[in-house]
Amino acid sequence: MTAARPLVAGNWKMNGLGLSLDEARAVSAAVDAQPPACRVALCPPATLVARMADLLNGTGVEVGGQDCRAEESGAFTGDISAEMLADAGAGLVILGHSERRAGYGESDALVAAKTEAALRAGLEPIVCVGETLQQREAGETLSVVTGQVRGSLPASLAGKAFAVAYEPVWAIGTGLTPTLEQIEEVHVAIRETLVEVFGEAGKGPPILYGGSVKPSNAAEILKAREVGGALVGGASLKAADFLGIVTAA
Ligand code: PGA
Repeated sequence: MTAARPLVAGNWKMNGLGLSLDEARAVSAAVDAQPPACRVALCPPATLVARMADLLNGTGVEVGGQDCRAEESGAFTGDISAEMLADAGAGLVILGHSERRAGYGESDALVAAKTEAALRAGLEPIVCVGETLQQREAGETLSVVTGQVRGSLPASLAGKAFAVAYEPVWAIGTGLTPTLEQIEEVHVAIRETLVEVFGEAGKGPPILYGGSVKPSNAAEILKAREVGGALVGGASLKAADFLGIVTAA
């Protein structure tokens, strides 16, 4: 299986009102004027998914959600299903982000169930993993991350389009980034785990790096071994910053 095209995805988190669609418009105008080497996606808050999907329909920029519930429908006030995201026009969904793992107690098993739901709805999951600072300092990084990969990726992903995002929790929104050696060490371990779990099919899915990616460090990070793109938070909110990362890929 050949390596998938790199993916640079913007995670807007709980940011963005209707006016912010201007940023998405600017990203798609630049991407369409000069198609980059990578796939490009934006993951706005749920309230903007349908509007952004309409706006970007037919452009080179894909749209994703930031989370979904595992069930298809039901009495789950406030939640949205993978089917609803797909119906709104999303093609991807971020799952298991550390802000959800930490803030909502999401376990690997729950992330795996959500990943199954994404596949059921025809969405491409971007499954996030990453260690806390405490775990890194305790020398547990590789066991934590590979354990999350094993626990969060259901067997049904074999042969399907999906991505893993390695996001060290301590690097998210902090301006801190691991060294290139640290990034490569984890990405190589994730790849080995994917191949162990999925065989040949584990060689294809891109492994994104996320955590304080910005235009000034993107080129270096994106060149690192087994880095197949980036998941970008803060720097995805402004088209100019995000495009600086996209063009570095
Ligand atoms: P950041 O966030 O780029 O703002 O560090 C990354 C993420 O949480 O996906």
